[in-house]
Amino acid sequence: MHVVALVTQKGGSGKSTLAVGLAVAAMAGGERVALVEADMQGTISKWKERRENPHPRVERVADPAEIEAIISRLRAEGVWLAIIDTAATNNDLAMRAIASADLSLIPARPSPADIEAAVPTLITIRRLNRRFAFILNQTPTRGCRLSEAATSLSSLGVLALPFVGQRNDHQDALGVGLGVTEFAPEGKASDEIIDLWGWVSEHLLVESDSHGQAAIKTAC
Ligand SMILES: Nc1ncnc2c1ncn2[C@@H]1O[C@H](COP(=O)(O)OP(=O)(O)O)[C@@H](O)[C@H]1O
Ligand SMILES: [Mg+2]
Repeated sequence: MHVVALVTQKGGSGKSTLAVGLAVAAMAGGERVALVEADMQGTISKWKERRENPHPRVERVADPAEIEAIISRLRAEGVWLAIIDTAATNNDLAMRAIASADLSLIPARPSPADIEAAVPTLITIRRLNRRFAFILNQTPTRGCRLSEAATSLSSLGVLALPFVGQRNDHQDALGVGLGVTEFAPEGKASDEIIDLWGWVSEHLLVESDSHGQAAIKTAC
């Protein structure tokens, strides 16, 4: 089983939105996917209540100490991909999610304050020697600020591609219990999430050996 965690202390950066978008995009290959909700805000379980399709399954983590057991159970049940959505505030939980994940994804809006806010998360990831990538989210669909933000993120670590634009489809899809690829399959938001899932899945398949981090970096 592959495990991906969406982590950063910055609230509103898009952890839950991207967790849902990526989980639904990943299901398109017919694989078993689970969302692990490690955030008492309940964005994912509320989304799930609005959803008619029973997939992906959603597992709630009530206590940070449960996360490892939930991941082990999903693995034992033959789930192919688990995506963990974390809270902005609970450091213990974020640390456990990072430790459980093959790849941690750090969404950040393209502003200096948002990028700086991701640094403590990056330090934790480095300390645990885990693989990671930044996702530049809610980027302006026009304007020239992007390259500066992209440069800052590149200098901090890995940057996943493509950037995810600020598009209403993401919010509207969440509101009706869909992934953005189901809500507006022909839209730009859908294209970006499919391509982002392509990037993530490719990097999940990178052999995890002692050179895993270097392998990922050179692949970018
Ligand atoms: N790419 C995007 N385009 C438009 N709205 C977005 C995008 N990503 C996130 N949002 C919106 O921003 C808000 C915060 O996103 P959310 O996923 O809840 O962040 P977090 O889980 O990190 O706190 C939500 O209203 C969400 O719908
Ligand atoms: Mg959230």
